[in-house]
Amino acid sequence: KNLAIFISGSGTNLQEIIDKSRNGYLKANIKLVVSDNENAYGLKRAKNAKIDTFIVKKNYKELLSELDKREIDLIVLAGFLSIVPKDFIDSFKGHILNIHPSLIPKYCGKGMYGSKVHELVLENKEGISGVTVHFVDDKIDHGTIIARDFVPVYNSDKLEDLERRIHKTEHRIYPRIIKTLLEGDIIEK
Ligand code: GRF
Repeated sequence: KNLAIFISGSGTNLQEIIDKSRNGYLKANIKLVVSDNENAYGLKRAKNAKIDTFIVKKNYKELLSELDKREIDLIVLAGFLSIVPKDFIDSFKGHILNIHPSLIPKYCGKGMYGSKVHELVLENKEGISGVTVHFVDDKIDHGTIIARDFVPVYNSDKLEDLERRIHKTEHRIYPRIIKTLLEGDIIEK
């Protein structure tokens, strides 16, 4: 099946998905990497892997036709910070996945990404945090939850410790969920 991966930053999740589709774990072709940030390091990862890239700002119509051209079955948001317009979501309904670095509904919504989430988790002395994978609907960090994984938080944690632990969990869970979805029959256009 054909994937498009949307990123805004470093793209470590993207790299994991690239590696696992190259080694055969994922029966997937990554056809396009989309970024709202032309300086995202993830774009370099895409270029190194010889995957087409596309910069999206307000040109979602053009993006739709690029996706159609490549017969994309599943869109994977992996640290994509822009809000995807409603009509775009409607045309891919049930075919867009997102990963969020908290236990949704905790620490999600506007402005809740990356280190901001972990900062608050530490500030609020949460004993536990985690990762949520969900289908995307037209609300931010919202939609049917497919999987969650729990990550312990320690008193001694600095921001980067928690961030590293969460990232590690993301790298494990996201390819696994994508694999399950791709092998099932639910993804149909
Ligand atoms: C991840 O923590 C993801 O949950 C969040 O943004 C981060 C992206 O990291 N939405 P990376 O670019 O894949 O390294």
